Amino acid sequence: MTALLEVEGLTIRLPGPQGPVTIVEDVDFAVQEGQVFGIAGESGSGKTMTALALLRLLPPRAQLTGRIVFKGRDLVPLGSGALREVRGQQISMVFQDPMTSLHPMLSIGRILTDVYRTHSGAGKRDARQRAVEMLEAVRIPDPQSALDSFPHQFSGGMRQRIAIAAALICGPELLIADEPTTALDVTVQAGVIALLDQLREDTGMSVILITHDLGVMSSTADELTVMYAGRIVESGTTRRVLQEPRHPYTSGLLGALPHPERTDQPLVPIPGSPPAAHELPSGCAFNPRCGLAVDSCRVERPALVTLSDGRAACPVAVAPAAVKAGQ
Ligand SMILES: Nc1ncnc2c1ncn2[C@@H]1O[C@H](COP(=O)(O)OP(=O)(O)OP(=O)(O)O)[C@@H](O)[C@H]1O
Ligand SMILES: [Mg+2]
Repeated sequence: MTALLEVEGLTIRLPGPQGPVTIVEDVDFAVQEGQVFGIAGESGSGKTMTALALLRLLPPRAQLTGRIVFKGRDLVPLGSGALREVRGQQISMVFQDPMTSLHPMLSIGRILTDVYRTHSGAGKRDARQRAVEMLEAVRIPDPQSALDSFPHQFSGGMRQRIAIAAALICGPELLIADEPTTALDVTVQAGVIALLDQLREDTGMSVILITHDLGVMSSTADELTVMYAGRIVESGTTRRVLQEPRHPYTSGLLGALPHPERTDQPLVPIPGSPPAAHELPSGCAFNPRCGLAVDSCRVERPALVTLSDGRAACPVAVAPAAVKAGQ
């Protein structure tokens, strides 16, 4: 089976005061049809930049290398005309901040019908009908009058639903949802996630779900990739990654997560904070925060190794005995 999306060696550099800074490095992953593919990691790990690269929406001075193969076609060399056809229609995105994707001066009707008409060539009346259907699908009450309202007239949770409607109106095959629930309170969060899952089931689209919330991941994502400092450190089925993490960073994220059944256990945050992209430590980027780090971790950057049940970039956690024997 060929994947819907195959990303190979994705590397993003941005200009910095002392020369280009590598923000995302050598990222490889594949998303299958109908799959929810999760990307997790702390703030600054490169999740949004990776997502923006897939739609070729990086800042203008960014350098992008690698391959982004969508339905057999590499998107990296495409020109702006061909990209416009891909964006919205085949791949669309719910942005991290719904206020930035919903233009404050445009009515919800304009936001939804403009994108639909551009891509489908539909007339005004048909586009409005389609917009009403989309608002119904994301459970906005009274869709007809919502079309004549403006983004600020809705709550954060409703704006996020409208952003999802705008992303789905052209029937994309791949939806990228970047922290779709982070700004929302817990009950609204659950509703938005359930809605995404339902829409995926109804349409058969694939979803790349970006969130640092591993609780949301565990209930939604089929596969999970964990990023740290711009690189993938672990990937596998969500169940395996969360139950038997193979990288100390993933274990650290899990240790910091509140557990409803084990309220007596203290939460253990990962010490320190992630490094800035222009000052990565030598060796493994996680080594200054890692309880398992040995001398070699400070020298050599571990490769992302393919295991029987996923990938991990930590020879110490994956095979401590082998590493010790080699020392
Ligand atoms: N427009 C930009 N110009 C320069 N550097 C940027 C820009 N946007 C992001 N970065 C840097 O790129 C790195 C990755 O950022 P990115 O937004 O992808 O992180 P993220 O994993 O999405 O974090 P968060 O969880 O906070 O959304 C960070 O070091 C960030 O400082
Ligand atoms: Mg982000």
